[in-house]
Parts: sequence; C-alpha cells; structure tokens
Amino acid sequence: MVDLNEIYKSADWKSEKHVPAIDIEKGDNKIKIKVMVGKEIANPNTIEHHIRWIDVYLIPKDGKLALHVGRAEFNAHGDSATKPSVSFVLNSEKTGTVLATSYCNIHGLWQNTVEL
Ligand SMILES: [Fe+2]
Repeated sequence: MVDLNEIYKSADWKSEKHVPAIDIEKGDNKIKIKVMVGKEIANPNTIEHHIRWIDVYLIPKDGKLALHVGRAEFNAHGDSATKPSVSFVLNSEKTGTVLATSYCNIHGLWQNTVEL
C-alpha cells in the first residue's frame, strides 16, 4: 500500500513554494479559512509549471471522517505575482483540524494542517 504521507509532502527544500499556508479567523459562530500556496516564495505560474488546485477539509474533533470544505482550481496565466489562494467561511464553532492539500504539476502533492 502507498504511504500517503510520502506522497503528500509537507517539508523539504521546495516546501516554501508548495505547502499550503492556512490562516484561520474564528468568531461570531464563524470559521474563516484562507489557504494560499507560495505565501513565502511564489511557485512559477506558467503552462509548464503551476499550481493546479487547492483542497480544504475539516476533520471535526468528535469525528473520524474528513468533511470536504471546498476546492479551487487554477490555470496558468503567466503572472506569478498572483498567488493561488482560496477562502471559505463556515457557519460553525466546531473544533478539530483543518487540512489543506495542493498540487503542483511538476512537484506533486503537498499538505498542511492547523488545529482549530
Ligand atoms: Fe512547483
């Protein structure tokens, strides 16, 4: 069986361009989740090399199943100043773990988590 922790990378010498950065704001019975890839150093954005998508999941503390919050897909447009990002607002006060995954068409799958 494939070890997903080896496929979904979270740290190596290319991590600052690929690991999805997760920012959380909580309050007023809402959870705001913003995920950006390349926050520190932008990944290239060319047809040959770009971020294809970001997926966001919530794994509630009282549950074992991941809830899919949403997905953003990107196409290369040659402007590396625009970093791939997506934001969601949940009407919830749940606690648990936010999992974000991303895919670079050259450097593969990446992941990050933040505890709520
Ligand atoms: Fe890349």
